[in-house]
Amino acid sequence: TVTREFTQNMPKAELHLHIEGTLEPELKLKLAKRNHINIGQETIDEVKKTYEYDDLASFLGVYYPAMNVLQHEQDFYELAFNYLQRAAKNNVRHVEIFFDPQAHTSRGVSFEDVINGLHRAIVDARALNIDADLIMCFLRDFSKESARKTLAQALPYKDMFIGVGLDSDEHNNPPLKFARQFEDAKAAGLHLTAHCDIDQKDSIEHIRQALELMDVERLDHGTNIVEDPDLVDFVVKHHIGLTSCPLSNTYVSPKMKGDEVLSLLERDAKVSIHSDDPAYFGGYIADNYYALATAYDLTKEQIIKLARNAFETSWISDEKKAIYI
Ligand code: ADE
Ligand code: ZN
Repeated sequence: TVTREFTQNMPKAELHLHIEGTLEPELKLKLAKRNHINIGQETIDEVKKTYEYDDLASFLGVYYPAMNVLQHEQDFYELAFNYLQRAAKNNVRHVEIFFDPQAHTSRGVSFEDVINGLHRAIVDARALNIDADLIMCFLRDFSKESARKTLAQALPYKDMFIGVGLDSDEHNNPPLKFARQFEDAKAAGLHLTAHCDIDQKDSIEHIRQALELMDVERLDHGTNIVEDPDLVDFVVKHHIGLTSCPLSNTYVSPKMKGDEVLSLLERDAKVSIHSDDPAYFGGYIADNYYALATAYDLTKEQIIKLARNAFETSWISDEKKAIYI
């Protein structure tokens, strides 16, 4: 059987992690104090009491206001370095980190401070034997024009990130809204991924757009693709990764969407396990593997397959991939 130690010690690739979602209550309180920001809570218990959500929108309503404590380059550095230290201890060997510049520039923080702080942490963490890259996400509930400006601001820093993604509130914000920005990012040599799933009403249409019209290489979440066998054929054929996050799925489905993950594994789709916003959903990547393994009585072989899928669909060089696959 699969033990917690097994999930912890196994070499892992993390492909679905929002750096802002690693802001632990301890650091949140420390930065609030240092930056003189009143967040309305003074103890760790008080902070944790605000962590109640039953859908994406109610989660985002807690998540964005908390980011006010992130003000300076050094704050972004500490956020990312704390995460990378913790990940390295849990044998995460490679991580592709999402960041949301618009969540910060919209409150007056400079793009440069955000990316320089995160990048400096990544460089320092190399000494810990963890290899990290950044993926810049557009907030899909912001305008196209805001996404255009953000990409223009980011392109001079192209050496500091490897791809673009799409996150935040999916309702009425289809992937195609950002077709132009994705096309421009691709032309600039960047990789592409997009969150797809939470909006039950249009989720299959969103997945279809992302895959067929926008050339994404991965889908974040996206496991409800199982409702459409033709789209499953497409992801199998094109080795598209699907990054599932069991613990963050608990607010949409108590069963963590494990049935979808297992069905995709059976079809030999490149589905993998990640942590989304670990400080808010009760666990880091090993906890996510372990929760799924326990709930579905997964075998070691199934866990290893999921871990291998993550390395295979990661954006590391082929030489580095060969070490893990
Ligand atoms: N931003 C941070 N976590 C997210 C998620 N799970 N879905 C959409 N946007 C997010
Ligand atoms: Zn996510």
